[in-house]
Amino acid sequence: MNKLFRLGVLGSGKGSNFAAIADAIDAGEISAQVGVVLSDIEGAGILSHAREREMAAQFLPPGKFRTKLDEDAERNYVAALQAAKVDLIVLAGFMRVLKGDFLRAFEGRIVNIHPSLLPSFPGLEAWKQALDYGVKVTGCTVHFVDAGVDAGPIIGQQTVPVLDNDTPESLLQRIHGAEHELYPKCVAAIARGEISVVGRRVKWAK
Ligand code: GRF
Repeated sequence: MNKLFRLGVLGSGKGSNFAAIADAIDAGEISAQVGVVLSDIEGAGILSHAREREMAAQFLPPGKFRTKLDEDAERNYVAALQAAKVDLIVLAGFMRVLKGDFLRAFEGRIVNIHPSLLPSFPGLEAWKQALDYGVKVTGCTVHFVDAGVDAGPIIGQQTVPVLDNDTPESLLQRIHGAEHELYPKCVAAIARGEISVVGRRVKWAK
């Protein structure tokens, strides 16, 4: 029997995307197991979600910088993920940019979800950027992670209409709903080996 595909999940926040992925695993929709969940925030909801599910979950201090891991931290994250023998790194609201050595250790095996239709509105508070800009349709994007910010090849996108009476909060809530559908689908397809990348284009086998 083939070894089950293993996920390493990184998050800084409440962990609703991680919960959606864990639920999809429980429902048999993703053929994978969670090897480890890591967070740079000690009290992050994502760690409680993981512990409630009796999964390995660890706070790993990020070091001295605000928006990236410092060298020691980066080494600790890579070591923890390698020790957990993960096949795919799933960023689920991890609020730090990953750099050189981390990217090299898991090249082509890191995915992220972003709350806009990339390449529009990369960066922080993407739903608010979309609302302020006045677009009529926004959504979410799952993409491979490369050295750019929210810039790697796009695996999947789901649209969300912007309504006239939307506030940042109401729009974000609907984007979260779309994220919880899209991310498990993309992770499931990667775990089944159905995703290939040619240049910037990601192809789905089915
Ligand atoms: C999501 O909106 C995701 O798009 C962004 O961070 C947020 C994480 O939320 N990258 P949660 O922790 O999964 O609830």
